Amino acid sequence: EKNGFDHFMLKEIHEQPEAIKDTYRGRLRINDGIIKMAGIEDNLERILNANRIIIVACGTSWHAGLVAEYIFEDLVRIPVEVEYASEFRYRNPIITSKDVVIAISQSGETADTLAAIKLAKQNGAFVFGVCNVVGSTIARESHAGAYTHAGPEIGVASTKAFTTQITVLTLIALKLAQSKGAISKTEFHNYLAEMEAIPTKVEESLKIDGHIQEIASVFKDVPNFLYLGRGYNFPVALEGALKLKEISYIHAEGYPAAEMKHGPIALIDEQMPVVVIATKKGHYEKVVSNIQEIKSRKGKIIGIVTEGDTEVKSMADYVIEVPETIEGLTPLLTTIPLQLLSYHIAVMRGCNVDQPRNLAKSVTVE
Ligand code: M6R
Repeated sequence: EKNGFDHFMLKEIHEQPEAIKDTYRGRLRINDGIIKMAGIEDNLERILNANRIIIVACGTSWHAGLVAEYIFEDLVRIPVEVEYASEFRYRNPIITSKDVVIAISQSGETADTLAAIKLAKQNGAFVFGVCNVVGSTIARESHAGAYTHAGPEIGVASTKAFTTQITVLTLIALKLAQSKGAISKTEFHNYLAEMEAIPTKVEESLKIDGHIQEIASVFKDVPNFLYLGRGYNFPVALEGALKLKEISYIHAEGYPAAEMKHGPIALIDEQMPVVVIATKKGHYEKVVSNIQEIKSRKGKIIGIVTEGDTEVKSMADYVIEVPETIEGLTPLLTTIPLQLLSYHIAVMRGCNVDQPRNLAKSVTVE
């Protein structure tokens, strides 16, 4: 059932090209120049008239929510707040009938996320669920929704659920942007074409597995890791760090690259590996200067760069290349090497990758 792979996690990482295709199949219709999503179409006015969108989720799904915040605000121009479901529900939050709440959950059973949407509903908000498990409680409790269609995710560490959540949230943002007239025809088409090309690019990113294994073998025994990214790739840095923590038990932190000098830079010495997401589009020059700051403190740099990059390559200790795409879609590619890096480090440390200690696949207690 692992299809020849050593672990479910590795199988699921490799399933991503197909899973992403399954997510956009039937929805992304390039020839007609539209995105088809019944859950959005049927509630279009309600959503477009929202004062704000509140995204509630936990863990990796919360990271997908953070990526969505950038996409929604960029494309749809509706204010977005991303909340940990557990904090949101206990904070006496201000929710009105003009709010749209998007709940993101792979399992659709996470207790805190479920409680958050119940609270939102009681206060008159419209609740849209983004779940993977069909017929799950959160899917049923939502007013409308869109499934990710990633197929069963068995590994406790979430992989294909994350990339398919980003895919479906991007489709939603594009659909809303088009309906609102907030995006030009050319940009919309460009997005659709680039989205369609993502599965092939993910496949390419999976091919450099051997190179990532070499990097993993260099750093497998370190006690700490830092992950940095900016803009769309800041949540990817958080997700990269979470993945490493969960399955290898190495302490890792993700930060917005520019925040480094407000504290975490104190941690940097010659022992500290720093994974920096430095793709060409999106604050590239700023990230390059962040890399210089790390270099001058002798940190070890693993750069995630766009294919053909030379500038970061000349500074970093190691680089991992991903194909080029538009900025808003880079998280779908930069995530892949980070999943593989934590997977290989965990395997080399002899950890139980699919069932890490203290963790359950779905957290149905608060
Ligand atoms: O099923 P959900 O998406 O609601 O689960 C949320 C988190 O529990 C989950 O993403 C968790 O953080 C994973 N172990 C991450 O790999």
